Amino acid sequence: MIRILHVTDTHIGPTPDYELYSYNTYQQTQRFVDYVNHHMAFQPDLILHTGDVCYNPDSLSAKLAYEVLSQLKYPLYVARGNHDDPQALCDYFPNLPHENKHRIDYDFIHDDYHFIVLDSFGHVQPAGEIEPEQLIWLQKKLEQSNSASIVIVVHHLPVWTGNGWLDARMRIINGDELFDVLQPYQSRIRVLLFGHIHVPSTHWYRGILCSSAPAVFSQFIFPDDPQERFTVTSPGGFSFVTITTNQVSILHHQLGDILDGD
Ligand SMILES: [Fe+2]
Repeated sequence: MIRILHVTDTHIGPTPDYELYSYNTYQQTQRFVDYVNHHMAFQPDLILHTGDVCYNPDSLSAKLAYEVLSQLKYPLYVARGNHDDPQALCDYFPNLPHENKHRIDYDFIHDDYHFIVLDSFGHVQPAGEIEPEQLIWLQKKLEQSNSASIVIVVHHLPVWTGNGWLDARMRIINGDELFDVLQPYQSRIRVLLFGHIHVPSTHWYRGILCSSAPAVFSQFIFPDDPQERFTVTSPGGFSFVTITTNQVSILHHQLGDILDGD
């Protein structure tokens, strides 16, 4: 069994007083870190951050993000979001690879669980894309994997949702090419985790379970018309992902006021 704390979209800016849609993202992330370290009953084996660690793609934001996220008492792995500068993330986050700082693709093993993290940064913002050489790299990693359980990690939305705004603007535009590579291994791919859309969601596509976590700093509600503005609501959250030999369980939570319940 493995327990994963899935977090995403902290959107930290270059200064601690930076606000996005009237939310102080640094303070919200600090609240999240304090909750995880001091109040959370769920004991994760590791934390996966599915990207947009920063809002500004610069070194100051990455430094500030590392300052707060490095306080987490569990191992932290991050994916690159469309707002992240890969070089800046690699400079501060020690679990990231240091060979190629332009694309953050990497994998790691935890117990028998094989995690493959793909950089889904796209050429047309804010949509995502997986480059042909990344698909070749992914294919090799899957071919060589001896793990009974594989977890795929990306930032962007990998599937269609039926929501016009999300489907037009937030998807990995060549998502089906990604699934062409993944599908032969679907019996061992236990879940694909992603962020970017700021809402918890669940999808089942070509035999693979896909799940997004709520963003740490706020939630978005998307209109159907891609030309309209989205709505920013309520405090953010995170997800608990538990994978056993025969089950995947995902619980989504909001980071509201912390009160004791009976
Ligand atoms: Fe994003």
